[in-house]
Amino acid sequence: MKIGIIGTGAIGGTIAKKMAAAGHQVKINNTSDMDKLNARAQELGVTAADQKEVVKDVDVIILAIPTIAIPKLPQDLFADVPEEVIVVDTSNYYPFRDADIEEIKNGKIESIWVSEQLGRTVIKAFNNLLAETLISGGKDAGAEDRIAMAIAGDDVEAKKVIATLVDQAGYDVVDAGPLSESWRHQPGTPAYCTELNATALKQALADGVKDDAPMLRDKAIAELSAMSSYPAHPDVVKFNRALFA
Ligand SMILES: NC(=O)c1ccc[n+]([C@@H]2O[C@H](COP(=O)([O-])OP(=O)(O)OC[C@H]3O[C@@H](n4cnc5c(N)ncnc54)[C@H](OP(=O)(O)O)[C@@H]3O)[C@@H](O)[C@H]2O)c1
Repeated sequence: MKIGIIGTGAIGGTIAKKMAAAGHQVKINNTSDMDKLNARAQELGVTAADQKEVVKDVDVIILAIPTIAIPKLPQDLFADVPEEVIVVDTSNYYPFRDADIEEIKNGKIESIWVSEQLGRTVIKAFNNLLAETLISGGKDAGAEDRIAMAIAGDDVEAKKVIATLVDQAGYDVVDAGPLSESWRHQPGTPAYCTELNATALKQALADGVKDDAPMLRDKAIAELSAMSSYPAHPDVVKFNRALFA
């Protein structure tokens, strides 16, 4: 499969590496000049592409940039991208980083806001596992306590394609439903960055409380920031789980 990834930081870089390792043709873009982008591509074992090229002649486009960067993408980025090309949104909205996005603050589901900015439907995926989890938490299909990832979207066939990519990355998949249900794996929910297996993730998705999520998201960030040093990855996961104990 041909995959274009916009954003090559913690999450985009990790997805790029995993997808290349699974045998896909991956090209990447970020905000750097071509020299730096080529260096990053070499590091990840993929190809560098400018903004026009990264969305051209691909089957899947993965957006791995902060929410606030999405409206800054060129308005015509998807103008020549055929409808059947699947667009994946990995983003999570954090007011401290993404500034005020009034519609999301007023309750609009993050990936619905993203799809409105892009003028395209999206599949929400790769958002509810930390990059550290993606780097080292993958297991073969059928392995005991394989970690599961939530995905959501309105296009059932597109979700099947993305579920295959997630499986190749080393994770089970739990379908959270249409994009309107994707709040169930946004920050501040029990499904978010808690490293659950498929059975537990299904329960966590069901247990989420939409109106509580922004408060819990901000409480988590405030408490983590107040710690004398940022906790190690396993402690972050424990901390996230404890928010819902
Ligand atoms: N980190 C995680 O554990 C994690 C897990 C799941 C989901 N997410 C979500 O994924 C998104 C990205 O997070 P991250 O942690 O990967 O961020 P990051 O490490 O800061 O990387 C952001 C990337 O986006 C690129 N970028 C920003 N604006 C761009 C634009 N207009 N065009 C092209 N590239 C652009 C940056 O380019 P430069 O490299 O040139 O600066 C950088 O490569 C966020 O919404 C985050 O919440 C993160």
